[in-house]
Amino acid sequence: MKMKGKSALITGGGSGINLAIAKRFASEGARVALVGRTLEKLERAAAEIRELGGSATVHPADVRDYEALAGAIASAAEENGRIDFVVCGAAGNFPAPALGMSANGFRAVIDIDLLGTFNTCRAAFEHLNRPGASIINISATHAFRPIALQAHVCAAKAGVDMLTKCLALEWAEQGVRVNSIAPGAVDDTEGMRRLAPTPELKARFEKSIPLQRFARKDEIADVAVFLAGEESKYITGIVVVCDGGRSLSPVSLPLPTGTLMEKKD
Ligand code: COA
Repeated sequence: MKMKGKSALITGGGSGINLAIAKRFASEGARVALVGRTLEKLERAAAEIRELGGSATVHPADVRDYEALAGAIASAAEENGRIDFVVCGAAGNFPAPALGMSANGFRAVIDIDLLGTFNTCRAAFEHLNRPGASIINISATHAFRPIALQAHVCAAKAGVDMLTKCLALEWAEQGVRVNSIAPGAVDDTEGMRRLAPTPELKARFEKSIPLQRFARKDEIADVAVFLAGEESKYITGIVVVCDGGRSLSPVSLPLPTGTLMEKKD
């Protein structure tokens, strides 16, 4: 148990890659605090973690709302003790061409992904167990690879990676490391179910990946454990690309229209 006695805070921790990271950190002995917009979703996730023998608390807040988020982070620090690891995973996405996107639609994604990451890092700093704390921002290959119908996400994730590097510089002296993970296509996530809803589409998509398959969520969690732990203690300000080699190809194919995420209520 590499993380026994440690405490982790994970935004967007109610589902997907972030929940997989939360489960892994909990299985390594960390007390895990889940932050997200929907209390019921967080409670379901926390129950899953507890069923596996882990410790999880829930702290509902929208990462766009600094005051509410700062309160949620303070309550997490109070319940679980000072925070050793922060995973900024809350993200939003919908496929739309730039001309089919209102300023508010663009801003919604920038606010969740980029401002939300800043807000989380900024509000968590005072509660970090420093020196030795590690912040992990969940980026995407969108950050350095233009993708049609994803201008908002590409811009936001490019910002996230630059924020990672700036905070790594500013906070190194206090012993706080800041790194990003840029996953490519990850299996069994909401995005991938919509992007490749049939076995045929999935097979075609996987063929475009040099390693010939999607990532598994636990493979992204492996990277998070590495970036949180002692093994990476001299690493800060980097972006770990975990995409099976897909971004090595210079071609960025347009997403098939209408197969990604629909507007949510
Ligand atoms: N195409 C074009 N514009 C869209 C859209 C779509 N498919 N979906 C949302 N928008 C626009 C809305 O029309 C609105 O703009 P408007 O006020 O000018 O009409 C703006 O985005 C905000 O939408 P709203 O639904 O009010 O925002 P929200 O804060 O409730 O939701 C989203 C944020 C839009 C990112 C939403 O998709 C979401 O909640 N996603 C979370 C889940 C998710 O994306 N998971 C995957 C993470 S990779």
